[in-house]
This record gives sequence, structure tokens and C-alpha cells, in this order.
Amino acid sequence: MKKILLNAFDMNCVGHINHGLWTHPRDQSHRFDEISYWTDLAKTLEKGLFDGLFIADITGSYDVYQNGLDLTLRESIQLPSHDPTTLVSAMAAVTEHLGFGITVNLSYENPYQFARRFASLDHLTKGRLGWNIVTGYLDSAARLVGQDGLKEHDLRYEQAEEFLALCYQFWEGSWQDDAIQKNKVNRIFTDPSKVHAINHQGKFYQSQGVFQVAPSIQRTPVLFQAGASPKGLGFATQHAEAMFIGGESIEKAQQQVSKIRQLAVEQGRHADDIKIFVGITVVTAETDALAEEKFAEYRRYASPEAGLAHFSSSVGIDLSQYQEDEAIPYQQTNSIASVNQRFKERKTTIKDLKDQHALGGRYPIFIGSGETVAQQLIEYVDQTGIDGFNLTRTVAPESHEDFIKYVIPQLQQRGRYKNAYQDGSLRHKLAGQGDRLPERHPVAHFRCRPSALINKQSA
Ligand SMILES: Cc1cc2nc3c(=O)[nH]c(=O)nc-3n(C[C@H](O)[C@H](O)[C@H](O)COP(=O)(O)O)c2cc1C
Repeated sequence: MKKILLNAFDMNCVGHINHGLWTHPRDQSHRFDEISYWTDLAKTLEKGLFDGLFIADITGSYDVYQNGLDLTLRESIQLPSHDPTTLVSAMAAVTEHLGFGITVNLSYENPYQFARRFASLDHLTKGRLGWNIVTGYLDSAARLVGQDGLKEHDLRYEQAEEFLALCYQFWEGSWQDDAIQKNKVNRIFTDPSKVHAINHQGKFYQSQGVFQVAPSIQRTPVLFQAGASPKGLGFATQHAEAMFIGGESIEKAQQQVSKIRQLAVEQGRHADDIKIFVGITVVTAETDALAEEKFAEYRRYASPEAGLAHFSSSVGIDLSQYQEDEAIPYQQTNSIASVNQRFKERKTTIKDLKDQHALGGRYPIFIGSGETVAQQLIEYVDQTGIDGFNLTRTVAPESHEDFIKYVIPQLQQRGRYKNAYQDGSLRHKLAGQGDRLPERHPVAHFRCRPSALINKQSA
């Protein structure tokens, strides 16, 4: 029986997914700019044996709804939001096992500087770092960083391919494993014959020289991705070790899981090389009735309209222009292609969307006692073939504490959740096959080999 993997899903801001709940009297998310808010959360999650804390991020702001930022600012819809990378060292210092999946939009990064930052953090966390690779979908981001506008959807993935290929060279192609000697007697810190310059001349990027960071435990951080369009899915199934999919319905999730596993195999990987996660929201308490009461109470503070403002930017359509019962017409935009596609597939009204945003977010909501929720989660995993969940927060940090108190013991009793952490890096904890990516992964093309081999190849 498969053990369920679990990430807390959060963001370095007030309102992440479930909008409006920052107004709840017990909610602490307004303290997101204090380091103790995050170190306390990390300790709580480690107590609950969470595999990771997954931190979303956005470059830019949500200015599509009502063609402006008023609601976004009033409701704090991911604005203000701070750099997620800054949280990692502090949280790593107070934990031993918790992984950190950090989102970075590569479109506005220099690959060298990014690779150096992440390699440094993989050292400091002792191999607990992951990267959620995103390419961005906001026009406001392109304007902020001084670009002409958002690049066309598929071109963003083409750029991502090259960005990643270059990062692989930095992380895996410049230093051999035994290059560092730290030999005081012989005065050799690093063996010069084991450090190699990389040379990349591509369409988007150029780089020549030696990477500045010696190999970390994982070298390449664990790669997370959520591509869902044909281009995005191709990219993700080639590279990702963990993928996020929408959990709208069991049937859709099932289909997506089969498609992902099949595409992985077609690209020379194993079907289970990709761990698949669905984002969920849970409201739980001692009994089903108390959980329903809590849900009703939370609902009074949630803002479905703020959820719509967030969603407007995801699809690139100002949803404030439609009446409650009007079907939203499909129109091609340059934002998240796969989400927008839903308007093509079925008739959706603003009222439907508001109903879906009962707690201000669109993720499936599970409500009930620990026993009820655990049972539902197990059924979901068994019916869809996913590997685990990204748990959003509602009232922070109460909702995570509730999950740990009520749901986790029930999952453990059913043999579906670990009772202790395994030792090792984040990659080893997730896949159980060591700290480094396997040879069947595309990174293998970029690895530097022992000197003897390199000399032979170039002879
Ligand atoms: C669970 C989940 C988390 C995501 N987190 C982010 C994020 O933090 N930042 C971001 O820019 N995009 C995020 N995305 C959007 C994806 O990067 C991607 O654009 C989307 O899944 C659609 O893929 P497509 O571009 O192939 O249509 C997320 C998507 C999912 C499903």
C-alpha cells in the first residue's frame, strides 16, 4: 500500500489560494513578514512529518480584474508578496528533514546567478531543496522587469528548455564529485584537474567558465513542475520529478495521471519517476458536525470575489465584465493555456465560479472529522493513482495544526502515512533511489565524468 506524500502549500504573502481568510480573527498570515512565523510553521510541519513545504511565487501582480489593482490591494491577493528563497535558510536551521520546494520564474532570471543561489541553498539545507520551475503568465511581470510584454506561451517553454540545460551544466557538468580535497598538509583545497569550464552558446543564453559552487548533496535540486498544456506537459514529463495536477474530478485526475506516466515512459523514464500531487483544501475537527460548523464559520470570512480576481489573471480575462448567469465565452489569451481551455470545454458562469470559490480558492475541499477526511484522501489516491497532496492553508496556522492533530493519526492507523522520516536528501525521501537524479534522466547528458574518461573522450 502506497504511503501518501504530503506538502504544505503556501506562499510568502498574506492571501495565497484561499482568499479573504486573512480577516478571520485567528488567522496569522498578516505576520508573513516575520521570520518566526516561518520558523514556527517549519517546526509544526516537521512535527506532522510533512515531506515538504512548497512555496508558490509570482512575479508581477493581478491587475486584470476590473482592469486594475484595487481589489488585489484591498484583499491582499498575493500583494504584497516577498521572495520565497529568503525563507529557506531560517527554516532549515530549525528543522532536520522538511523539504523546501521553492518556486522561481526562470523567464526573469539569469541562469548562472540562479543556479549559484540554488546550489548554495542545497548545501545549507543538506540536500533538502527543490525548485518549482515556472515560466510565468502575467503581462504585469514583463512590464515590471522592463520587457516588451509576455513572451508567447510555447516560446516560454522553449526558453525553459535551454535555461534548464544550462543549469544542468552548472550543477552537474563543471565539478567532479571528488574535486574538493580540503587537504591542509598538501595545500590542495580543490584538485584543479577535476574542475571543468562549461561553454554554452545558445539561442537565449551564453555562458563560459567554471561554476563557482562545488557539488552539493543533490547537485540538481528536486525538480517540480505543473505544465498542463501540450507543450508544458512535454516539458514536465521530460524533466520533472514531482508534478502538480488539477484535482477537479477523479476522472480527470485519473486521465492526467495515465497521460503523465505514459509520456514519462515514452521519454525513457520510469512511470513512477514522477510523483504526482493534487492541491486540496481541508477543514477538519473532532467530529463531522464540528468540521461543518468550522467550514460555515470560515466561509463567512472568505472572499469568492477575491478568488475571481486571482482567477482573472490566471486566464487573462477580466471576469468582472460578465453577469452572474452569463456563460463566459472562450477567448484565446497568452496566460495559462490549460486553465483557459476549460471555458471552451464547458459552459461556466460567474455564479459557478463563485460557488467553486467557497473558501476564496478553487481547490477541492474536504470537510469532516480526521477519520472521514483520511478515508476520502485514501480513496482519492487509490482511484486516481496520484502520489500525494499539496495542502493549502485556510486559517493560518490553525488549518495545518488541525490536519496534523486530526487527519495524520488516522492516515497512520491505516498504514498510509509514514511514522518517521527516512534519512537522506529530499530526492531520496521522495523516490528512495539516492540523492542524485538517475542516469535515465536528461541531466545525464550534461554530467562531467571522471578525468580518465574525459581525457579518453577528447583524445
Ligand atoms: C499546484 C500548482 C502550483 C502552481 N504554482 C505556480 C506558481 O507558484 N507560480 C506560477 O507562476 N505558476 C504556478 N502554477 C502554474 C504553472 O506553472 C503552469 O503555468 C500551469 O500549471 C499551466 O501550465 P501550462 O502553461 O502548460 O498551461 C502552478 C500550477 C499548479 C497546478
